[in-house]
Amino acid sequence: MKFSSVFLTLSATVASAQYSGDIVQYWVDQSGLLSNNSLIGGLQSPPSGWFEAVVQAAIYVAALESKNESLAFQQLAVTHAAHDSLTWTFHGTRNFGNLFKSAQDIVAAINISESDDRYWRAAAIGRRAAVRVTNARQDDKLNNFVNYVYRPAIPGVYQRTPGSPFVAPDTPQARYLRTFGGIGNVTKFRAPPPPSVNSTEYEAILNYVKSVGDRNSTVRTPNNTETAYFWRESSPIQWNRFAHNVIGNKFAKDVQSSAKFYAQLNYAHANAAIAGWDSKAYYNSWRPVTAIRRTDIWLPSKRNVSNPTWTPLLDPTPNHQEYISTHATFGGAAAAVITAWNGGKDEINIVQSTNGTGAGLGVLSRRYTSIKQAVKDNGDSRVYGGIHFQFSSDVGSVVGGQIGRATLEAFDKNWDKF
Ligand SMILES: *[C@@H]1O[C@H](CO)[C@@H](O)[C@H](O)[C@H]1NC(C)=O
Ligand SMILES: *[C@@H]1O[C@H](CO)[C@@H](O)[C@H](O)[C@H]1NC(C)=O
Ligand SMILES: *[C@@H]1O[C@H](CO)[C@@H](O)[C@H](O)[C@H]1NC(C)=O
Ligand SMILES: *[C@@H]1O[C@H](CO)[C@@H](O)[C@H](O)[C@H]1NC(C)=O
Ligand SMILES: *[C@@H]1O[C@H](CO)[C@@H](O)[C@H](O)[C@H]1NC(C)=O
Ligand SMILES: *[C@@H]1O[C@H](CO)[C@@H](O)[C@H](O)[C@H]1NC(C)=O
Ligand SMILES: *[C@@H]1O[C@H](CO)[C@@H](O)[C@H](O)[C@H]1NC(C)=O
Ligand SMILES: *[C@@H]1O[C@H](CO)[C@@H](O)[C@H](O)[C@H]1NC(C)=O
Ligand SMILES: *[C@@H]1O[C@H](CO)[C@@H](O)[C@H](O)[C@H]1NC(C)=O
Repeated sequence: MKFSSVFLTLSATVASAQYSGDIVQYWVDQSGLLSNNSLIGGLQSPPSGWFEAVVQAAIYVAALESKNESLAFQQLAVTHAAHDSLTWTFHGTRNFGNLFKSAQDIVAAINISESDDRYWRAAAIGRRAAVRVTNARQDDKLNNFVNYVYRPAIPGVYQRTPGSPFVAPDTPQARYLRTFGGIGNVTKFRAPPPPSVNSTEYEAILNYVKSVGDRNSTVRTPNNTETAYFWRESSPIQWNRFAHNVIGNKFAKDVQSSAKFYAQLNYAHANAAIAGWDSKAYYNSWRPVTAIRRTDIWLPSKRNVSNPTWTPLLDPTPNHQEYISTHATFGGAAAAVITAWNGGKDEINIVQSTNGTGAGLGVLSRRYTSIKQAVKDNGDSRVYGGIHFQFSSDVGSVVGGQIGRATLEAFDKNWDKF
């Protein structure tokens, strides 16, 4: 009978309802929120960047393993991969309940019932993907104890920053982590040496950040101040959201492409963090606040540039070495991947918004028409914030670009080198 066949078709459609958005973006967002790192606090680099690379790797495996199935099935497989790998990365925290809710909310939208055998097949694919990736990362050295001993406080050498609650610079083991996606030994991405603290060039560099990065600077424009706060957020979270804005909803029905894009982006972030920490540990450079507060005269000009009460806009200065800016390195790496997926074009037209600024400025929004401009502003933001020298941001952005491109080049062959 005609009527019953129409009815059957309808009920089949309803039964295979699916989530209407991009499932990979959903889990990228949940990862950021669950890490409680949307501004400052939560995870520091490199666990930020690192944990998202682990999760996106598991998601990519699940997407490949489920690619012949329906969209809803793929979404469910990805959800299980994301849940299980996130649980592993957050082990030892109290995040289980929030994570459970993130999964439960999206499982309801995907709407494959647990009485349907597809539910359990998809779950098994997701679980296997998470196990595969997290097993591979068991011995990646993130958990290793690496000692840090302060070096004598001569000009140029890192010292504990004022207001830092930590005894040593965070995660000194980070430089030894295995990179993602087979880009090889991270020391090939080590930055060239910074300008010598005894060079005449250095005095101008120091005076620049001293004036522009001072908490009460009269040189920094309101727009510069806004730039410092706009780009203050955790880099992987900010750049993942930037990526959403560029790509939009284009891959909502193409889970595999979305998973590939975000795996590349988050591998690049993680690799950028590891490389950034390699340069930081190798050069062990002081922060502007340490240089400016020093009361002896160490510059070749014999001019006294000291201000013992100088305070940067973004106070307190992060508790790790200055050179290079990992913030800038993340930006350069993200831009390389995003540009590749933007057809190789720099031109974009997006409105990027912050998720809070911590400065009573609320949510800030900016239109960006160039990816390069975003990279530049992101790097400069740390100088306006008084926590980095300009050369650290400039070199960091360049090194990040090299890492992003290396991650892209290696990906098709080495994506499963977790
Ligand atoms: C979920 O699927 C069931 C049938 O399996 C259907 O009755 C229900 O309306 C669907 N819910 C949604 C939100 O699509
Ligand atoms: C998130 O982190 C902030 C500061 O680091 C803390 O005050 C807040 O309680 C945390 N929120 C959750 C839900 O853990
Ligand atoms: C998907 O289908 C193709 C063609 O039938 C097959 O070669 C491939 O192995 C299948 N992949 C998976 C993961 O099932
Ligand atoms: C990477 O290269 C550096 C410098 O050449 C070397 O000291 C280090 O052992 C290498 N690391 C690995 C994991 O091969
Ligand atoms: C900045 O200016 C405010 C007054 O506008 C003052 O209270 C504060 O002490 C100044 N901070 C520094 C570090 O000079
Ligand atoms: C603020 O500065 C950015 C570059 O840092 C620039 O693109 C933007 O146009 C400036 N906005 C205003 C209102 O001047
Ligand atoms: C340099 O200037 C600062 C701030 O005025 C002062 O505290 C310090 O003693 C001076 N250093 C020397 C060596 O004169
Ligand atoms: C810079 O000069 C000081 C003496 O003013 C010296 O102690 C220090 O070793 C020099 N640093 C470098 C990196 O040359
Ligand atoms: C901003 O962060 C809050 C949690 O602090 C979250 O609830 C909200 O969804 C976030 N917004 C975006 C756009 O990420």
